[in-house]
Amino acid sequence: MSNRTSLLVLLLLAPGLNGSAAPDAVGRAIDVPVWDEASDTPLARRLIEPPRIGLPTEQTEMLVADPADRQFVPPRLAELPDNAWGDQVRAGRNIFVDTQRYARRYVSNGLNCSNCHLSEGRMAGAAPLWAGYPLYPLYRGKNLRANTFPERIGECFRYSMDGTAPTLDSPEMQALLAYAQWLSTNVPARAIMAGRGFIGVSAPREASHGRGKVVYQSQCAVCHGKNGAGIARADGHGYQFPPLWGWDAYASGAGMNKLGAAAGFIKGNMPLGKRGSLSDQEALDVAFYLKIQSRPWDPRMGWFSIFVDEIPDG
Ligand code: HEC
Ligand code: HEC
Repeated sequence: MSNRTSLLVLLLLAPGLNGSAAPDAVGRAIDVPVWDEASDTPLARRLIEPPRIGLPTEQTEMLVADPADRQFVPPRLAELPDNAWGDQVRAGRNIFVDTQRYARRYVSNGLNCSNCHLSEGRMAGAAPLWAGYPLYPLYRGKNLRANTFPERIGECFRYSMDGTAPTLDSPEMQALLAYAQWLSTNVPARAIMAGRGFIGVSAPREASHGRGKVVYQSQCAVCHGKNGAGIARADGHGYQFPPLWGWDAYASGAGMNKLGAAAGFIKGNMPLGKRGSLSDQEALDVAFYLKIQSRPWDPRMGWFSIFVDEIPDG
């Protein structure tokens, strides 16, 4: 093993050697790497190549990729500059919160992106954009290859929005990319941020849609309707309370139609205003109740797909 390789192995094996906290450019505490005097090498940075030590450390070093316990606050809309880029980011945000109006041509159900990615894609525990964006390209079991971020967005269009994926050069895709990138300002590339995706649930008993129905009727129906159809807005433009099943809801190939994902989303975010009030078991049961309802077909399914093995979901 060459010196270089053993240094790399040492760095990989020693994630605890992080430096002390120091304020970054925007005043938040971040971990900075420490320099090991004895070996004259940086200790905490996981590098493919050892940095060129002739340069000042600020230019060769990056944040330690261990932000798990760091609080991240995405930038605010008011901070955006008044220029073409700012306009593109604002357009992306509009598409995200009002997909029905701004990207209607790609969508065939009644949802907006922010119905699931809450608070404009900012909410930790509701698949926030700032935690997803820095991780792509990312291998996904759903299609058995590395996916770019635009491809990932396209999947939510296809499955969660029961629609079609905008092409890479479409203004909608460009705007959504700009928005996600801007929200993740200061997140190191490939950093696994706390708050990504949904929280995990672990219930003692197997999911039961019978119990789930009871949870649904008592905790969810008031907003999402007894029949899961949601409550449309008075002006006929989308929904006040989004549908959970039926033709205007997410399709059966959507991530939300996976038991674990739905249970995690529900436990962490629903009932709206009372997040965390359900037990893990209740969240899992009600997720199962949602899963047995009818909804738009998985677009990958053909008429004869009942005869083939299950396609990977997610
Ligand atoms: C107080 C009203 C309210 C209650 C009660 C409530 N929800 Fe929601 N739910 C909402 C709203 C509003 C949204 C969309 C949030 C947004 O756009 O910011 C939503 C979004 C959702 C979504 C994702 C969007 C979609 O349509 O698929 C799911 C799934 C969901 N809720 C499930 C549940 C479940 C399960 C319960 C019961 C445990 C529940 N909700 C209780 C208001 C509510
Ligand atoms: C019905 C709910 C729902 C809707 C609507 C929805 N998504 Fe998603 N989205 C999900 C779920 C579930 C995941 C997977 C989260 C997980 O498993 O961690 C996801 C993941 C993503 C990811 C990857 C996040 C990551 O951390 O890797 C992106 C990007 C994304 N969605 C963008 C969008 C965009 C853009 C729209 C609107 C066009 C949209 N989503 C609409 C449910 C939804």
